[in-house]
This record gives sequence, structure tokens and C-alpha cells, in this order.
Amino acid sequence: MVLMRKMTKKSNYELLLLIGFVLITISYVVAAANFNQDFEVTWGDGRAKIVDGGRLLSLSLDKASGSGFRSKNEYLFGKIDMQIKLVPGNSAGTVTAYYVSSVGSAHDEIDFEFLGNLSGDPYILHTNIFTQGKGNREQQFYLWFDPTKDFHTYSILWNPQTIILYVDGTPIREFKNLESRGIPFPKSQAMRIYSSLWDAEDWATRGGLVKTDWSQAPFTASYRDFNLQACVFSTSSSCSSSSSDQSWLKQSLDATGEARMKWVKKNYMIYNYCTDTKRFPQGFPPECSLS
Ligand SMILES: *[C@@H]1O[C@H](CO)[C@@H](O)[C@H](O)[C@H]1NC(C)=O
Repeated sequence: MVLMRKMTKKSNYELLLLIGFVLITISYVVAAANFNQDFEVTWGDGRAKIVDGGRLLSLSLDKASGSGFRSKNEYLFGKIDMQIKLVPGNSAGTVTAYYVSSVGSAHDEIDFEFLGNLSGDPYILHTNIFTQGKGNREQQFYLWFDPTKDFHTYSILWNPQTIILYVDGTPIREFKNLESRGIPFPKSQAMRIYSSLWDAEDWATRGGLVKTDWSQAPFTASYRDFNLQACVFSTSSSCSSSSSDQSWLKQSLDATGEARMKWVKKNYMIYNYCTDTKRFPQGFPPECSLS
């Protein structure tokens, strides 16, 4: 009897602990997906909107202006997942940029840029990686789905060993830390997350041949369900993580990931600076042969 009461007490206690844990976990998840908490609109004079209690963000573009937002915090390493639904219909000339960047002349930057197209023609996913102010590392891809029909997850993994870009969990590009071979790697400048929707009809679609059809304006891209596992950079402590699961800090590509990336390269890559002999007649950048 006494023993049983003790046991009931114990399991009640365990249940409370469990509920507490679940509540904490949920509030973390809810907090993690609130645009009002983690992001701020930076430009566009009302064209960028956070709605639905912070769960949805939309950017729009018309002839007068585009719009953009950024993270409130700066991060030094992180895994950032963002669900984006791109401008539908005739999106020719529009560019939806989604990237992380530090500031200054020797800045680091990791870019996703989505170049719009005429209805039914494929978007181009343009990527680039800057280290210490130097980019020129473009790779471009078609996607294996229509990115305007639904939300899809675009992720940036940035840890001390590597940078990997993912689309719906499939790795499309990796930039390894090859500092030991003399190639700079972003690891000391904190970066913010940025996104913007703007017009680049001079070059975005078929090299600028197809102009923006302003009768279709405003153009709109939508964002939801982001997930930030990242080290928040602040002056007091150089890096403190907001997340309990730190496995992303050690994450790298396993054999399956390598195979998936190969599949993307083979079937969807349409431009790779590492094979552009016209551009690099004196030889390719060193990371091209090392990775
Ligand atoms: C637009 O469609 C054309 C024709 O399919 C294609 O060549 C081009 O790569 C597509 N994307 C952009 C952004 O121009």
C-alpha cells in the first residue's frame, strides 16, 4: 500500500516532468517559427508583411519598389531552414534572394537567388559563396519541382567544417573548410539572415532578354515555418546556442548525401564556375580540384 502510493507519486512526478518537457519543447518550436520574434522588415515601405500572428511573411514587388527583411540576431554558425513559395505565374525579371551575410569589405556570404521566368518555364536557382569579400563561385541549378506551387525548404548548414546548401533536405552544394590548403573559410565574422524580392530584368531571365511584365505586379513571395538552430552572436559571449540539439555543428555529408548531391549535379546543375574554362583561362580556383 505504502509502496503503491509512493509509486503513484513517483509516476505522477514523472508525468509532470514529461508534460513540462513537452511544453518547453513546444514553446521552443512555436518561438522558433515566429517571424515577429526573430526577423524584422528592413525595406519596401509596407510591401513586406508579417501576418497570421508571425507565422507567415510575404514580400512583394511592384514597379516602384521591392522589399526585404533580415534576422534581428547575428549568428556565428547555424543551420537555417526556411520554407519559401516563390512568385507564381510570369515572374520573369524578378529575383528572390535568400542569403546569410556579414558586413564590411571583406565580408562572407552564402547565397540562394531564385531567378524568375515566364509562366511554365523553369526558375534558376543561382548560388554563390563569398569568403573575405571574394565571390565568383557561382553554381546554378534547375529544380526538380515547381517552386511556385507549394512551399519548399531551402537550408543553409554552416559549421566550422563545412557549408552545405540543401533543397528539401537534398544537398545541392558543399563548400568544405579547406583553410589548411590556403582557401579562406567563413568562421570568424557573424552573419545575419537576409531575404529580398527585387527586379533585375536587365540580367535575371535568359540573360536579360525577357523583361518584367509590370501588368502582373505586385509580385509576391511567401515565407513560413523557418527553423533556426544557430549560435547567436553577441558582444558578451562570442557564441551561445539557442538550441539544445547541437548535432548540426558536427554535421557533414554521409555517403547517402554524397550520392544525392551527385544526382543533383548530374541532372539539375546548369552552370558551374569550376568547369567554366572561358572564365578561368589561367586555371580554376584551388577549391575546384580539392573538393
Ligand atoms: C527560363 O526558361 C528558359 C527556356 O526554358 C531557360 O533557358 C532559362 O534557363 C530559364 N530561366 C531563366 C531564369 O532564364
